Amino acid sequence: MKKLSLLLLLFIVFISCKKEVPPQSQEIGVIAKKAMVVSAREEASKIGTMIMAQGGNAFDAMVATEMALAVTYPFAGNLGGGGFMVYRTGMGDIGALDYREKAPAGASRDMYLDAKGEVIPNLSTEGAMAVGVPGTIAGIFAVHEKFGSLSLEKILRPVVELANKGYVVTANQAQGFERLAETFTRVNGDSILYSTAFAKGDTVKNKALAQTLDRIIANGKQEFYGGQTGQKMVDYLQSKGGIMTVEDLKDYEAKWRDPVVFNYDNLRIISMSPPSSGGVCLAQIMQMIEPYQIEQYGHNSEKAIQLITEAERRAYADRSFYLGDPDFNDIPLDTLLSDGYAKNRMDSFSWEMATASDAVSHGDIPGYESLETTHYSIVDQFGNAIAVTTTLNGAYGSKLYVEELGFFLNNEMDDFSSKPGVPNMFGLLGAKANEIAPGKRMLSSMTPTLVEKDGEFWMSVGTPGGSTIITSVLQTILNVHEFDMGMQEAVNAPRFHHQWYPDIIMFEPNSFDPAILDGLRQKGYDPNEKASKILGKVDGILVLPDGSLEGGADRRGDDTAVGF
Ligand code: DON
Repeated sequence: MKKLSLLLLLFIVFISCKKEVPPQSQEIGVIAKKAMVVSAREEASKIGTMIMAQGGNAFDAMVATEMALAVTYPFAGNLGGGGFMVYRTGMGDIGALDYREKAPAGASRDMYLDAKGEVIPNLSTEGAMAVGVPGTIAGIFAVHEKFGSLSLEKILRPVVELANKGYVVTANQAQGFERLAETFTRVNGDSILYSTAFAKGDTVKNKALAQTLDRIIANGKQEFYGGQTGQKMVDYLQSKGGIMTVEDLKDYEAKWRDPVVFNYDNLRIISMSPPSSGGVCLAQIMQMIEPYQIEQYGHNSEKAIQLITEAERRAYADRSFYLGDPDFNDIPLDTLLSDGYAKNRMDSFSWEMATASDAVSHGDIPGYESLETTHYSIVDQFGNAIAVTTTLNGAYGSKLYVEELGFFLNNEMDDFSSKPGVPNMFGLLGAKANEIAPGKRMLSSMTPTLVEKDGEFWMSVGTPGGSTIITSVLQTILNVHEFDMGMQEAVNAPRFHHQWYPDIIMFEPNSFDPAILDGLRQKGYDPNEKASKILGKVDGILVLPDGSLEGGADRRGDDTAVGF
């Protein structure tokens, strides 16, 4: 199991992150006085910021940014996927929105297994069977209904214009399109817009998507969940062997949830609750490391890496066993998030020697029965702050593209556990809590997170990266809080990752002192610099002591901070 999951992990990380890390960029990010958007694309950050400059709030800007990413960043920005948002209003109210995809009603526990009970390769990752019922349009409507202050027409018109006029392809994007052009044609049985070998500097116009957005502005969310757009999407999916129906679309609802909230030193951290594992795992890891003087060990020192790795190992073992859709599972959240539980989990930790993952299982809780995503952070001039992570799962999701509608469909079904003990494309293992069932949401690692310091809003942060999301968010918060970095510096800093299985520590290559890696080897750890060239693309906003905002836009992508 260990070997197979390692190979799978190496493969997926290699194909989804095949790019070199650019040299360290400047260490101080864009500074703005009042409002800011940091996202994966400059156009999206600009549109979101413009909406706020016109008097809109962070929630209006969220709707605009989400759709602008769908136009300019088809890699992960989407109409055919889902996501999570965590918010904190200027009044200090907090909440979370779950617009995660769901399994269609026709889905079943063993739908990806053959007659012998083996997982059928690629069925949950590519093509029509991989697609979960999309949540993004329900998500933006839920946000707009609850918090929007400008009309949808005003918010989305610039996005429609962008789709019509076109966006300019970056070098990173050109590489991605080239690599996948043939796959797009194969999966769709015909060439699609993105089968074209767009080069850096080319302009991509997506008229079909402009028309889809126009119809959504005119007809509301039912245009997607049962109207012409939904019908066309379902017809296309069914023509490719998919099981989604218009009824599945009509049944879909985005859900407001209570975020996971916990304290660490003088910070109060507000993060995503199940069906994402992000907030729970982040809370567990931070509670396990809180008693230690990590700032004294030094940033990315052997001791800091060791401590964080051991906490991550234990939290990911729990993730695998306990976490799944809360509407289908009784998750023992109070226990998992309690200080006492975290302390007990670290009882087996020793500075002398690595704890083998084979020796770590989920914790015992009495009475319990049992690549690609994108993140953006927004702060407005009214004191509202949000963190949003949205995804198609793999790069361009299932690779299925509805040409007539102008968007890709997710392969989020792979985030379920197809079979106990068999890793998904991020090498993650799952159990009953995350088995497939009709209408169930698949477990996520997405970790959109807001941090208060001494009761005031302080930071908005998040990232893509599948299983590595949680640990990248963790390190970014620690970099600022424990190691006194600014936002951009914290985002730039090299990262590492451990997830229980495979029992390796992934390091961004050539970024860590070889002596430290050797020291870890001697204690029984397995440092690996080949699994991934980059870990995450973190985007964040930090409130500086003078009240201004510093953006941290990850140098590992085309991410850009824009503010005023
Ligand atoms: O929800 C999740 O955890 C995954 N579908 C996220 C996928 C992802 O971050 C891919 N990006 N590299």
